[in-house]
Amino acid sequence: PYGLFAELRREPVCRQEDGTYVVGTHAEIDRLLHDPRISSDDLPDPQHFRWTGHPITDLLVRPVRAEIRKRHRPFIFRDPPDHEALRGRVMRAFSVERVRGMRAKTERLTHDLIDKLAGKARIDLVDAFSYPLPVTVICHLLGVPPEDEPRFHGWATQLATALEPNQRGDEETQIKNEETFAEIADYLQDLVKAKRREPADDILSDLAAGDDAERMNDYDLIATAVLLLVAGHETTVNLITNGVLTLLRFPEHLERLRREPEIAPRLIEEFLRYEPPVQYRTRLALADIPLAGTTIPEGAPVVLLIASGNRDPARFADPERFDPDRRDNRHLGFGGGLHYCVGAPLARIEAEIALVALSRRLREPRLLADPPPYRPGASLRGPSALPLAIAG
Ligand code: HEM
Repeated sequence: PYGLFAELRREPVCRQEDGTYVVGTHAEIDRLLHDPRISSDDLPDPQHFRWTGHPITDLLVRPVRAEIRKRHRPFIFRDPPDHEALRGRVMRAFSVERVRGMRAKTERLTHDLIDKLAGKARIDLVDAFSYPLPVTVICHLLGVPPEDEPRFHGWATQLATALEPNQRGDEETQIKNEETFAEIADYLQDLVKAKRREPADDILSDLAAGDDAERMNDYDLIATAVLLLVAGHETTVNLITNGVLTLLRFPEHLERLRREPEIAPRLIEEFLRYEPPVQYRTRLALADIPLAGTTIPEGAPVVLLIASGNRDPARFADPERFDPDRRDNRHLGFGGGLHYCVGAPLARIEAEIALVALSRRLREPRLLADPPPYRPGASLRGPSALPLAIAG
């Protein structure tokens, strides 16, 4: 999509035929992410959303039955003051100590998964590694008993389509999502009850704690747990897979990572700029917003093209070049403003551990398909499989 983005950036704020505004430049996206007149509330007026036949069609959003989403709306789709209250609770539960405490466990999981590759000549890295690692980590943080984790694997995949505007507009996907949601909500309801009876050192126990007055209600609690599962899973899968793919395409960086593992954090920031797992987010204008010589009218849906902002030559020198040594890499990969990614520190730790271990332990990895097959969604970008040949 990057060629299309370069064309789009000629006009920072681009009005589509259907009244949607697409914003592709770094400064304007950043400004809107911090603008209180822009809403994340996920119940826009459906009349704004229509297929247009324009090449950017793929990036537009279709309506979903509002009443279902209203009930279980996670805080990523809410505005202040609700958003602040819920996010505040989650930030406290997602504490620095707790995230740091995941390092040792993540290392262990990483090495266990790589151990299982021994003796194999061909692997699919997504299936064997990128996919299971984050879901296991998030289950552990939430406090899901290990024997129940396999159920979360299927749920995470299905529910990722709920973050994928194009797929979630599809009737069949909606029905499947509702069923999955009902299943997971039932499961979590029981788990929350158990955590209230017997709190442990985990996020769900923290969120479920408190007396009636300050307690999070069950809808919000479950919506939050599902959000953490969904937002934390496929995104991290894609960061790891995109990262390995990029390293195999630019082997000098793979060699360097093997020699100097301390460059991992810079590499990861550059992966987040160069191939952001979340390519765009949508918003709604709550008022007329003058921007870059035009005005986004009240009520208009707005598409913030993170992936395009990340390659904006006005912000990044030589933006099409993968360069982990670039200074001041203020990419938009984790968003910005009120909704800045809650899981960024965790994602960085997981990716760092995974990439350092893979670079050292995968022997003579070689891409068997370049480009590999991609997932269908436009918003969460990443390969559906990464077939590799390895030397056992
Ligand atoms: C929000 C990206 C990993 C939890 C966001 C947003 C982005 C993003 C772009 C902003 C959404 C918006 O403004 O509408 C990513 C990427 C990840 C990642 C690229 C991995 C590489 C995680 C992880 C978790 C997580 C591991 C938790 C386990 C969340 C939550 C929000 C969020 C809860 C909503 C915050 C809010 O609305 O206040 N993420 N994320 N993310 N992310 Fe992440």
